[in-house]
Amino acid sequence: MPTNDPIKIGPLKREELNEADRIVRLAFGTALRMPNPLDFMGDRSLVVPRWGMPNVKMIAARDGGRLIGSNVVTRWGSFGFFGPLTVLPEYWGRGVAQRLLGATMAVFDRWDLRHTGLFTFAESAKHVGLYQKFGYWPGYLTALVKYTPEPALPRDGRSADAPMRLSSFSRSRREAAIEACANLTGKIEKGLDLGDEIRASLKPDRGETLLIYTRAVLDGFAVCLTGPGSEGGKNTCYVKFGAARGGPGGGARFDRLLDACETFARSRAVDLETGVNMARVDAYRRVRSHGYRPTMQGVAMQRPHAAGFNRPGVYVIDDWR
Ligand SMILES: CC(C)(COP(=O)(O)OP(=O)(O)OC[C@H]1O[C@@H](n2cnc3c(N)ncnc32)[C@H](O)[C@@H]1OP(=O)(O)O)[C@@H](O)C(=O)NCCC(=O)NCCS
Repeated sequence: MPTNDPIKIGPLKREELNEADRIVRLAFGTALRMPNPLDFMGDRSLVVPRWGMPNVKMIAARDGGRLIGSNVVTRWGSFGFFGPLTVLPEYWGRGVAQRLLGATMAVFDRWDLRHTGLFTFAESAKHVGLYQKFGYWPGYLTALVKYTPEPALPRDGRSADAPMRLSSFSRSRREAAIEACANLTGKIEKGLDLGDEIRASLKPDRGETLLIYTRAVLDGFAVCLTGPGSEGGKNTCYVKFGAARGGPGGGARFDRLLDACETFARSRAVDLETGVNMARVDAYRRVRSHGYRPTMQGVAMQRPHAAGFNRPGVYVIDDWR
């Protein structure tokens, strides 16, 4: 790039956070042809609550000092993903996203990850082509799914192996539980670790992490984001990531995890939203049979072109947004 290029890329500053959030709404709202683009995602934000997380970097594009786009880069142990990536509509088609992606790839290289991914509009030649330039390849569809819990069912009563809320644990027990979560995900994909997301979910008004056990052995966990100012907002419990231990009985454990999410959402009187990649065939079917309906679907693209944890027998819910 010529040195007199007025567009510069660098870390997002704290004071630019709200403008970055506004650009995210404007860009997606414009692309989706919403009558009022700034209404995109209502009170939810996929940017503001992620500020300051140790596993997140935010990259900014500026034109002569004015913020014109950003990208959020996230690390889950050995796996990384990015998004939302957005550019002010008046700058579209001028290479700004590619500049942001160049800086994103440099972050991934520094993090020394096994693989990285993203979620994008499957039908958009522009989006798929843009990411292919950076070595990403489309795999299976990921469905965003939503469910409104029914009024309480009798099975909501406490049983010996009732789901636990991590926030109810003492500090030391919390860390041991977070380590057990990393052991569980590490068996799904080497090095996959949600520790930072789990810790962040315990901040005030961010949500909760649910854990299910059989006789003190961790069977699964779900990072549930809900509350004003969180990624779920005040009306939604957004399950950012959930996983059940695979192998024999994995499907039944996953069902219990979905039940735990449902009970939690009901206790907060909110809807549930999550994502599930269709390569996780049984997980997808079970999510559907629990009553979740797809609201939108996109495609998971990965670099290198490999299945990662999007494969049959994996009981994970997430969408990489
Ligand atoms: C998607 C978005 C970030 C792209 O930003 P941008 O600055 O316009 O993108 P760039 O100009 O850097 O790159 C566009 C690239 O798309 C690719 N592209 C565009 N049309 C294409 C087509 N029909 N087929 C294949 N590739 C295509 C090209 O590689 C093109 O770059 P090139 O012309 O230099 O080769 C921006 O449009 C945006 O904010 N959209 C709304 C939010 C959004 O969709 N975010 C991404 C969600 S995953």
